[in-house]
Amino acid sequence: MKIAILGSGLMGAKLGRLWAASGHEVTFAYSRSPAKLQRLATETGGRAASVQEAVTGADAVLLAVHWSRVGDVLEQAGDLAGLLVLNCCVPLDDSDSEIVVGGTTSGAEELARLRPEARWVACFNTSPSESFASVFVAKGQGEPPHLLIYGDDAGAKRDAAPLIRAIGFEPLDAGGLRTGRFAEPFAMVTAELAYAQPGGAALTYRFHKRRA
Ligand SMILES: NC(=O)c1ccc[n+]([C@@H]2O[C@H](COP(=O)([O-])OP(=O)(O)OC[C@H]3O[C@@H](n4cnc5c(N)ncnc54)[C@H](OP(=O)(O)O)[C@@H]3O)[C@@H](O)[C@H]2O)c1
Repeated sequence: MKIAILGSGLMGAKLGRLWAASGHEVTFAYSRSPAKLQRLATETGGRAASVQEAVTGADAVLLAVHWSRVGDVLEQAGDLAGLLVLNCCVPLDDSDSEIVVGGTTSGAEELARLRPEARWVACFNTSPSESFASVFVAKGQGEPPHLLIYGDDAGAKRDAAPLIRAIGFEPLDAGGLRTGRFAEPFAMVTAELAYAQPGGAALTYRFHKRRA
């Protein structure tokens, strides 16, 4: 697949590298450093481009920017009509300590309102990027960790699944975009477990339903 990475920081660079290693055509975009985008492109055999160039002809888009940059990226990206958009953004304030959208809506729902013709799937927002490399290496060995995904477009969730499995996660469908109201605060639980509690940041999880 042709994947446009909008935001080539911790999430975008890591996922882009692993998708490239899985045989996907990755285009890196949206960084303050054109040299960084070029380096990522060279190292992965992909491309560096503007946001507009990256989304043109893409099969899938990863939106991976700080919440404060979302408006700017969407403006450059256009209407994203018909495009599969994987959204890993958590709607945080500048200090990354408070959720700024929630309760009666969520970041996922607000993004879908801003670009209603895109095929939105929220995923990767409840898993720290520090886990991705080891999950990728362990792919195919034993039970994979879960990755929560949610969205209102069942077909989009189906199309996102191979991209999630390519990293080494098993997608766990957690319902519609409305789930973002609860999953986005849960992302802060995973951040607490990863970054503030002992044992390192490469946190993964797997849910089980026990038989009665
Ligand atoms: N990191 C995680 O483990 C994690 C986990 C779950 C969810 N998330 C969510 O995923 C999203 C991305 O997080 P991240 O950790 O990947 O963030 P990040 O490392 O800060 O990367 C953000 C990207 O946006 C670019 N950017 C920021 N301001 C810009 C500007 N003014 N102009 C152009 N580019 C700009 C950055 O550019 P530079 O390359 O110049 O820095 C970088 O490439 C966030 O919404 C976060 O809440 C992250």
